[in-house]
Amino acid sequence: MLPNIPIIDIVLSLSSAIDLIDPAITNHHKRVAYISYSIAKEMNLSENEIKNLVLASLLHDCGSVNLSERNSLFKFEFGCSILQRHAHGQKGWFILHDADDLHDAAEIIKFHHVYWEERSDAHFESYEIPVTSHILHLADRIDILISRDIDILSQRKEIEDLVNSKSGTMFMPSAVTAFNSLIPKLFFWFDIVSPYLEHIIKSVMKPYNGCVSNASLHQFAKIAHRIIDFRSSYTATHSIGVATCAAFLASKLGFIASDIETIHSAGLIHDMGMLSIPEHILEKPGTLDLVEYNIIKCHTYHTYRILDSIQGLEKLRDWASFHHEKLDGSGYPFGLKSSQLDMGSRILAVSDLFASLTEDRSYRPALSLDTAMKLINSAKNYDCDVKECLKNNLEEIVEKIKISKEDVSKSCEKIFNLP
Ligand SMILES: [Fe+2]
Ligand SMILES: [Fe+2]
Ligand SMILES: [Fe+2]
Repeated sequence: MLPNIPIIDIVLSLSSAIDLIDPAITNHHKRVAYISYSIAKEMNLSENEIKNLVLASLLHDCGSVNLSERNSLFKFEFGCSILQRHAHGQKGWFILHDADDLHDAAEIIKFHHVYWEERSDAHFESYEIPVTSHILHLADRIDILISRDIDILSQRKEIEDLVNSKSGTMFMPSAVTAFNSLIPKLFFWFDIVSPYLEHIIKSVMKPYNGCVSNASLHQFAKIAHRIIDFRSSYTATHSIGVATCAAFLASKLGFIASDIETIHSAGLIHDMGMLSIPEHILEKPGTLDLVEYNIIKCHTYHTYRILDSIQGLEKLRDWASFHHEKLDGSGYPFGLKSSQLDMGSRILAVSDLFASLTEDRSYRPALSLDTAMKLINSAKNYDCDVKECLKNNLEEIVEKIKISKEDVSKSCEKIFNLP
């Protein structure tokens, strides 16, 4: 049975994962969430609107998964077309829209870079753009204006002037008025750059928070998998393949239903830490050199630390992040030994190996099933019972993986085809 896990804990950890993509903007999502919250409070928005706005702010750029796209977002006036500016909002909406707890947040994200003056343009006239989208847009631009190298209070005047000069054009006038009333409050500025920001967000969210169910936890895992895998066409279906394989093996090896669901979620998010790996390494056409391989090795460390921040998900955390550990202790990042690796972790390791070998990579095409199985059979330090189970059910597993990948490929096409 799942303990009560606050939604905010899950969303904060997803938010930290997204921020791994660009260390230069660490905490951008949390800072924007705090600024949005403060403006919405000042405007007396309803509890529900505030809750959804904070959740949306924490994830708002989840559709902008590569660094080059992100760079244009970090210029105050973007320097790209309206449709390019809007595209990552649409992608973000797509990533989140079918999760029950994030449906409303997805709607806010969809329009988070529509200028106030564009709301009745041909592109947007048929939509009711939420007030909260306009607040998110303003909060996002305020954070972009804050230099990380200059004392925060010394920047207030310049930010105030620039924001006010765009009231009624870029920004919603009533949101700018609310921001103006926050400007004299010193704690508002100190909070934005505070080392306690995560604690502050948890604290302000207490009155609005709910807990996740087992079903919605799986929806969150699906969201994380979309964010992770849609970054690169090479890995777009990797996690679903691992999840499908692991869940099937777990069912054959006698896992109970709730553990099968957990291992499926673990498969979906096992490479969450890959968000910290630069794209030029992910997509490198040749073999990785030593430095690049060292950088890759930190991905399971990040998966572990991100999930470790959520109390009550220890099993999911371990199964997701021990997939490069080996039974003799030669794996990474913890060098765990066989006595420390339970069946779930062993299943994930074999499933990841099987999926990786049978998929195209930037540096080699997919191996044939025969070659992959020969390699797996001779691979030391992977659990023999799990390998045996894979071998005995190979045909069925391959078919199940194929079907699950086809589903994800259809979603991917929609994402990759946006401008
Ligand atoms: Fe954005
Ligand atoms: Fe942003
Ligand atoms: Fe991995």
